[in-house]
Amino acid sequence: MSLDPALLDRAVALLQAGELVALPTETVYGLGADAANPTAVAKIFAAKGRPADHPLIVHLPGDAGLEQWARDIPQGAWDLAEMFWPGPLTMILKKQDWVPDAVTGGQDTVGLRVPGHPVALELLQAFARVNPRGGIAAPSANRFGRISPTTAAHVQEELGDKISLILDGGPCQVGIESTIIDLSRDRPEVLRPGHIGPQLLAEVLGDLPAIHQSQGAPRVSGSLESHYAPVTPVRLLAPERLLDFLTLQRHAGTRCGVLACNQPAQAGMPHQWRMLPSDPTGYAHDLYDALRDMDHRQLDLIVIENTPNTPAWAAVQDRLRRAAA
Ligand code: TXA
Ligand code: MG
Repeated sequence: MSLDPALLDRAVALLQAGELVALPTETVYGLGADAANPTAVAKIFAAKGRPADHPLIVHLPGDAGLEQWARDIPQGAWDLAEMFWPGPLTMILKKQDWVPDAVTGGQDTVGLRVPGHPVALELLQAFARVNPRGGIAAPSANRFGRISPTTAAHVQEELGDKISLILDGGPCQVGIESTIIDLSRDRPEVLRPGHIGPQLLAEVLGDLPAIHQSQGAPRVSGSLESHYAPVTPVRLLAPERLLDFLTLQRHAGTRCGVLACNQPAQAGMPHQWRMLPSDPTGYAHDLYDALRDMDHRQLDLIVIENTPNTPAWAAVQDRLRRAAA
């Protein structure tokens, strides 16, 4: 996939002018701005309705940019970059002094990632040719607290009235946000689980990273319990409780939509019944689209048949718990 050159020029010109551009990545769509321009970054927070102390991920065209943005980079970070970039991994590193507080939320660290999507890379490379810092700050392109967008149409629905350009790169391959690993302290710690799991990280780092338990004040906005939530209430149910629960809801006159991964629809059960793939990669790919779709159906409740609670499902489990919080 390659961008129309006129569109690419327009996107770069907008970024240079301090405006917002929505871009596809392999995880979810991002709402991008010149990361070295605090006024531009402030527009991201305004468009999303996001509290300004939440740090943003800076996207780079390659790991050559790492030293521009980060200092005291441990060997493990270079090794992870080599193995997983471009790809769905964000590293938290000590920031260079010049990096604006607008991007880091005033912390002394910065989140960096090289996304694995041809359109994102093309934009980053073109932007880096005209801008020596070459970083695009981009949170997920949704309003604060809502479901991350995985298609250009989702972005249009979330923020269409607030941004001048949405680059369409098709549906996102991974479908949930990048794994975030904090390498700024003594022991590497996973702050947000994602497609790249702790075992894979350990193969590069030599040791299993710590896993952040989401309690107390959030250093990661994704660690607010209610993040990634649809407007319609969500109920997460063990598979063996699903059918009984739905029978009760039917008698109570509650309009339910169901996202299942094992249990097929039964006679007399809700009309809105969507089967999601029974493997974690396929499930993650479809999850946000399915939640968003159910959210549009004037339901009283979205019922989700819980997935297995095994390491392979950790990232999906994390998003399901947040959706139901
Ligand atoms: O897959 C992704 O990571 C997507 C695409 C667009 O790249 N981006 C994304 O951004 O999910 P956002 O802003 O929705 O989530 C970024 C997370 C936030 O939870 C933020 O708190 C955390 O990264 N983060 C960024 N910089 C940080 C830092 N210096 N320390 C701790 N957490 C940080
Ligand atoms: Mg987000």
